[in-house]
Amino acid sequence: MDRTLTILGIETSCDDTAAAVVRAPEGGRPEILSSDVLGQTSLHEAFGGVVPEIAARAHAERLDGVVEAALGASGVGLNEIDAIAVTAGPGLIGGVLSGVMLARGLAAARGLTLVAVNHLAGHALTPRLTDGVAFPYLMLLVSGGHCQFLLVKGADSFQRLGGTIDDAPGEAFDKTAKLLGLPQPGGPSVEAEAALGDPLRFRFPRPLLDREGCDMSFSGLKTALLRARDELVAKQGGITVQDRRDLCAGFQSAVAEVLAKKTSRAIDMADERPTVLAVAGGVAANKAIRAMLETVSAQAGLPFIAPPLRLCTDNAAMIAWAGIERMRAVLTSDPDFVARPRWPLDQTAPALLGSGKKGAKA
Ligand code: KG4
Ligand code: ZN
Repeated sequence: MDRTLTILGIETSCDDTAAAVVRAPEGGRPEILSSDVLGQTSLHEAFGGVVPEIAARAHAERLDGVVEAALGASGVGLNEIDAIAVTAGPGLIGGVLSGVMLARGLAAARGLTLVAVNHLAGHALTPRLTDGVAFPYLMLLVSGGHCQFLLVKGADSFQRLGGTIDDAPGEAFDKTAKLLGLPQPGGPSVEAEAALGDPLRFRFPRPLLDREGCDMSFSGLKTALLRARDELVAKQGGITVQDRRDLCAGFQSAVAEVLAKKTSRAIDMADERPTVLAVAGGVAANKAIRAMLETVSAQAGLPFIAPPLRLCTDNAAMIAWAGIERMRAVLTSDPDFVARPRWPLDQTAPALLGSGKKGAKA
């Protein structure tokens, strides 16, 4: 019997409408046959954050087209698809519902298996899609809406070792950019300015470094940055180009140092020796942060895995792959599953505080 699985993945939990087809021979290398992502940055730009209603409507309008495009590009017809994997949470509920309804309709019409996937599991399992990493491994998921350390032990076994108690780092980068008049998304623009600045001129706080464990906090950083900016304005009547670069450099080095130190602590906290340290999420694109994490990894004697950026940020190939992992592990979905705004991967860990501008933190 051919144990190859070909799965259509659908992702609509935040501001990217995405569909992908992934094929995986049993025991062989999985192949991404297509992966389409239609972003919504321009729709939300004027509002300084993702507007849930606008996101939900855009998903509903665009998802059909994105699914058709992904199927077309894959060269695979719906009749060759074994199952549909869809993000069922956590995320902005209107968007998640759009994806779940389309997937449910398509699965019912074609008599296909439907697999409900946790969006965070999609990110967390990506190193197995790209690099065939073995369990257990340590994952730092760091994006605009999420920041947590996970010990990934199996397709449905995740231990959360810690995470942010307030803002996600990407959110902090975005707010910093806003405070300094730089374009959104803030990460790349703050990074570009920071590269020309002096990271030692402004010494921003490193919150929770003296606290045990690997929980983090980033919301105080923007207050410190705001204060530093306002002091300059009061003294000089404005900020110079070099002030802005130095503020960005100081901010970025604070984030990088916190992430590096807490990563090192997470490695020590894991109750099993991880095979690798892996990162995912938009903030993993930051070169200074990546370099710090590579150093921490090398010091701990662990290989460092950073999947290509298009698979680190939101996409549907990771959802299709998580569906394949669930099917291989014979983890069935309740056919009556519901879309969930909050859905922590590790049900035993205490809930994190707050909710990011890009959706529920889990
Ligand atoms: O994973 P992602 O694409 O989307 C979600 O959060 O769902 O992450 C986007 C976040 C944004 O906040 C963006 O500012 C941040 O990742 N980001 C960066 C960089 N590139 C993107 N942060 C720091 N440095 C970067 N180079
Ligand atoms: Zn995500």
